[in-house]
Amino acid sequence: MAETLDSLLAESRDRLKAAGIEAAALDARHLVSGLLGLSLAALMTRGGDPVSEADAKRIRAAVERRAAREPVYRILGEREFFGLSLKLSRGTLEPRPDTEALVDAVMPHARRIVARKGSCRIIDLGTGTGAICLALLASVLDARGIGTDISRDALATAAENARRNGLAGRFETLQSKWFEAVDGRFDIIVSNPPYIRSSVIHELEPEVKDHDPAAALDGGDDGLDAYRAIALHADRHLETDGVIGLEIGFDQKQAVTALFEAQGFRLLSAIKDFGGNDRVLVFEQDVERSNDR
Ligand SMILES: C[S@@+](CC[C@H](N)C(=O)[O-])C[C@H]1O[C@@H](n2cnc3c(N)ncnc32)[C@H](O)[C@@H]1O
Repeated sequence: MAETLDSLLAESRDRLKAAGIEAAALDARHLVSGLLGLSLAALMTRGGDPVSEADAKRIRAAVERRAAREPVYRILGEREFFGLSLKLSRGTLEPRPDTEALVDAVMPHARRIVARKGSCRIIDLGTGTGAICLALLASVLDARGIGTDISRDALATAAENARRNGLAGRFETLQSKWFEAVDGRFDIIVSNPPYIRSSVIHELEPEVKDHDPAAALDGGDDGLDAYRAIALHADRHLETDGVIGLEIGFDQKQAVTALFEAQGFRLLSAIKDFGGNDRVLVFEQDVERSNDR
């Protein structure tokens, strides 16, 4: 008898449950819908549809990868971020929903700058898939952006994601260690840098530590290496009324604020993520301090 969507979904869910995957039913639905190109709604209404042998084989292979703790969107090879479909590769972090809070936080500044100057230059340090910069460019049509990374693989993926989403004309990539190879000033500097302390990386879930690249996670001994490097040179690259938007770890608000205050910046806003943790900081130049110098 031919397999149906319903029978394959149930089999996949049971296999993932047996492997100890917490969101087994949800992951099974996402895998099947992603692999067959069906919406989640279609899965519910077309449960009696037959599934070909070839598709059933692909689904079973994907379910085995998930059972071995590979994340759903790594298996599918892409994920959605801020309404954009982004390809993932070995050198890219899988963009997280919490990072959308950074996009939300700097968007009004990009719009304000475009309203005043007619354009806005954005630099995204450690761009990975290009997620943050591309989300801003998709919403602010007069903005242009550069995504930097140390990973060539990430830069190639970010460039491809720009093409996929019709943004290649306004997006460039640059291989650079933070600001090292960067020239000029920007209206918006954004970054979601690696911020996990080296000593706790081994405690992370296998989905993260075995599948996100180490360079995207490891923030050094105290987790703050990248913020230190960025804070040190940000003044040379920020336009006078520009802003710096940063994603941070849940316990890093004070330390990161102190690093940027020491370089002449002022905390403009701090935003929490969906879980109620400090997640995003926005800085501007501290004009009073600059005048005092
Ligand atoms: C946490 S991931 C963020 C990726 C993407 N911006 C996002 O939010 O999904 C950090 C990124 O910083 C890059 N990176 C690590 N060290 C770097 C360095 N020294 N200079 C530039 N980029 C670096 C990593 O390759 C990775 O793509």
